[in-house]
Amino acid sequence: MKRLIIGFIPLALIATFAFRPTSTAPAFTAATKVNDVLFALGDPVPKWFPKDVSAENIQRGKEIILEGRTTAPDGKRSKYVSVYYMCTSCHNNVIEDPLLTVSNPQDRLEYAREHQLPFLQGTTFYGITNRESWYNDDYYKKYGDLVEPAADDLSEAVQLCASECAQGRPLVDWEMDAVLAYYYSISYTLSDIGFNDSDAQRFATLAAADADNSAVIAEIKSRYSLKSPATFEEPPYDIYWDQLNGKGNPENGKLVYELSCQACHKPTGVSDVVFGDNKQDFKAMSRWFDKNNWWLLQVVRHGTHPAPGHKPYMPLYTTERMSNIMVEDLKAYILQQAGKGS
Ligand code: HEC
Ligand code: HEC
Repeated sequence: MKRLIIGFIPLALIATFAFRPTSTAPAFTAATKVNDVLFALGDPVPKWFPKDVSAENIQRGKEIILEGRTTAPDGKRSKYVSVYYMCTSCHNNVIEDPLLTVSNPQDRLEYAREHQLPFLQGTTFYGITNRESWYNDDYYKKYGDLVEPAADDLSEAVQLCASECAQGRPLVDWEMDAVLAYYYSISYTLSDIGFNDSDAQRFATLAAADADNSAVIAEIKSRYSLKSPATFEEPPYDIYWDQLNGKGNPENGKLVYELSCQACHKPTGVSDVVFGDNKQDFKAMSRWFDKNNWWLLQVVRHGTHPAPGHKPYMPLYTTERMSNIMVEDLKAYILQQAGKGS
């Protein structure tokens, strides 16, 4: 017995030593979350990052986002965050751009048609924990100082949207951690951003070695946008519109109408104003052009404001969420369906 044990010790030591690199390297695959890979490589964990990413907490967050409320950890039903909207009235929760580095509305519209997704004013929640700033660029024009805390803190962006965009209430701490956990569950995987299992292995090996990983961190981050750009437009509508007028493509306009406007302006949608598919409705809409040739451009660029006693309003589309050409296409479709041609 004694001899056997003595014989084993050096063997065990050699084994531990020989396998050390693989046994301490994290087990990454193409399905691993990009967030986890970056943290292992030494990228700092943001202060808002969810603390509890258990399946249970993710499920609570998912219910808040998709159904407006959930069951609290103490077993009680929580109150609705907003009684007017679901978060998904204005945001998708799947990939919505064919290229994750480019924010192009026409590409997104075609992707939405292929995948039967609504085409909305808010950006997708998929990959939102991979972004590094929120409410970017021109959103300060709408929300002023409120965007400052939201710029580098996702939990503050959620609070801003829940209270202002969704006309609801701020989330309490456990709700926030649940929403952030759900966001983490729909964050990019290595495969979403075009890396495979052998890339994953390379990252794991680098993570295990104690070296400067800034180059590989930059390589990973170059595969997706770190923010959603947001440009508001206030064009001289008359001049601008005259340049486009009559050049619209009604087929593309039909996509805008069905995937975007009708996502909310339908019988079960968040708007009380229903835009149908009958000639009468198109005629009614086309009459708005008689009074103001560019009313559609105005509605798209300004949205509408919450009225006293009627909180649901229409969010504006930035130029990254809808181009002027797409608005002209929509006009061509409305006129065509109204029997007015263009
Ligand atoms: C009425 C439409 C609407 C509703 C409802 C809504 N949002 Fe938004 N949200 C927007 C718009 C528009 C923006 C700004 C554009 C964007 O997404 O970047 C935005 C931005 C955000 C952002 C920052 C995104 C970024 O990358 O800058 C977060 C986070 C967010 N919303 C969370 C929520 C949550 C959580 C809910 C539900 C409680 C919600 N939103 C409901 C319209 C809405
Ligand atoms: C995210 C939901 C949403 C989307 C998408 C949306 N709207 Fe709206 N829209 C609303 C809401 C909410 C109102 C406010 C009136 C109400 O409560 O029904 C409104 C109001 C309007 C009004 C004023 C109607 C009136 O009689 O006061 C027009 C016109 C309009 N939208 C056009 C459009 C067009 C055109 C599109 C597509 C390019 C579109 N909307 C897309 C939610 C939306």
